Amino acid sequence: MQTDSSFTFVLFGGTGDLSMRKILPALYEAHRAGMLAASGKIVAVARHEEDRAGYLQWVNEHVKAHVAKSGIDENAWASFVDRIEYVKLDLGKAEDFVKLRDALQDHAGTRVFYLATGPSLFVPICHALASVGLNENARIVLEKPLGYDLRSSNAINDAVGEIFAEEQIYRIDHYLGKEPVQNLLALRFGNALFEPLWRREWVESIQITIAEELGVEARGDFYDNTGALRDMVQNHLLQLLSIVAMEPPHSMDSDSVRDEKLRVLRALKPIDPRDISKVAVRGQYHAGVIRGTSVPAYATESGVKTDSATETFVALKVEIENWRWAGVPFFLRTGKRLADRVAEIVVNFRAVPHSALGASALRAGANRLVIRLQPNETIRLYCLAKKPGEGMNLSSVHLDLAFDQFFKEGQMEAYQRLLLDVINGRLALFVRRDEQEAAWKWVEPILNEWAASGKPKPYAAGTWGPAAASAMLAQHGTCWLEEEN
Ligand code: BG6
Repeated sequence: MQTDSSFTFVLFGGTGDLSMRKILPALYEAHRAGMLAASGKIVAVARHEEDRAGYLQWVNEHVKAHVAKSGIDENAWASFVDRIEYVKLDLGKAEDFVKLRDALQDHAGTRVFYLATGPSLFVPICHALASVGLNENARIVLEKPLGYDLRSSNAINDAVGEIFAEEQIYRIDHYLGKEPVQNLLALRFGNALFEPLWRREWVESIQITIAEELGVEARGDFYDNTGALRDMVQNHLLQLLSIVAMEPPHSMDSDSVRDEKLRVLRALKPIDPRDISKVAVRGQYHAGVIRGTSVPAYATESGVKTDSATETFVALKVEIENWRWAGVPFFLRTGKRLADRVAEIVVNFRAVPHSALGASALRAGANRLVIRLQPNETIRLYCLAKKPGEGMNLSSVHLDLAFDQFFKEGQMEAYQRLLLDVINGRLALFVRRDEQEAAWKWVEPILNEWAASGKPKPYAAGTWGPAAASAMLAQHGTCWLEEEN
């Protein structure tokens, strides 16, 4: 489907890492797939390049390499590049925003300002846009991290909120744009099969893992001031949790979905600072080996303090205080330099109450739904079946839905979907201010406690994190999925 109408997509931070790796490649893919209105324009804004020719040279040198596996279609690339204009702009110079306004004057249609910059620039850019009237009839996209804690995120939201109305603000969490996350909504609310079981009476526990093999790459400085709780839990993991646990929305319109997610976030059982060591584990990777390659310790990465107490791993036990989920533990986990790159949701259903088929019917490995978000998007339902032959011997088997086999084409990267949603004015997959606030409120006691005392537990790169993360689940008579195999 093509974007509804013409648009101008103004990209602040036009020569930044995010523009290079994600935003421009995603816009190219949308263009190549014929999803952008022919008259739509991209106006890149940056300081470094003198003029359009210089910027296009940068785009050719840096962006092409990040375009998906499908490779470049040279004709499509040439017409994509034709859409790009460039405005050299120094944020400190008011007259440069006048220049930007003049450059946008003849552009009709929806106007999007994408701030692919550090959060410290969000407010100054919004003020400067307003000073030349560019906040009218426009949408603004804010990248994460939006603030550092509840206070700083409120300060940004307050200031941006004075200039743009909430319906104009698109807060990106790219996990919400991932195809499998969309599929989770389809699975839950498009099938009558799961909904009756999706509750405390039938679910024993739920695990949500986002594990990465990568370390902090070139972002040591940013990461050392951020840590896994802010980088992954406050946003991606809590958003996934809210989609897994939410009530069926009345419709898929933006506020129905976001209202239900908000209810989950507000129902998270507050963490008592005295209990943090029982429900939260933090770790930091040491040197180790991943897939045969030695990797250095976090504390020796460039930009990281040698005595850093920043966590690169978090595991949490979370509870939701409502009728559907009371008493069901949700175990969340994320980490860098772990043994594998995998993001998945594991729903462990309760075992049968009495087994006429013998003790093997009570064993683990059945009554489980695993939703693999990446890589190899699959939904796998584990059940017990009788082994062929004499006697009633049961074995765990699984029913698989592998999406790439079922749907041969049409898979879209998260950024592509989200950028199209912004251009088309669809807010459902963007985080509303109240959701963000609820998430910060919930993580804050842990942030405070960890800042005040102690250090993360060490774990070797290439493992699944500190042993304490396994011990936390053992207390509930369960274990992480990979520990069963
Ligand atoms: C980002 C984090 O939001 O998500 C990164 O800042 C992390 O630290 C990334 O690596 C993971 O995203 P994905 O899509 O690669 O799982």
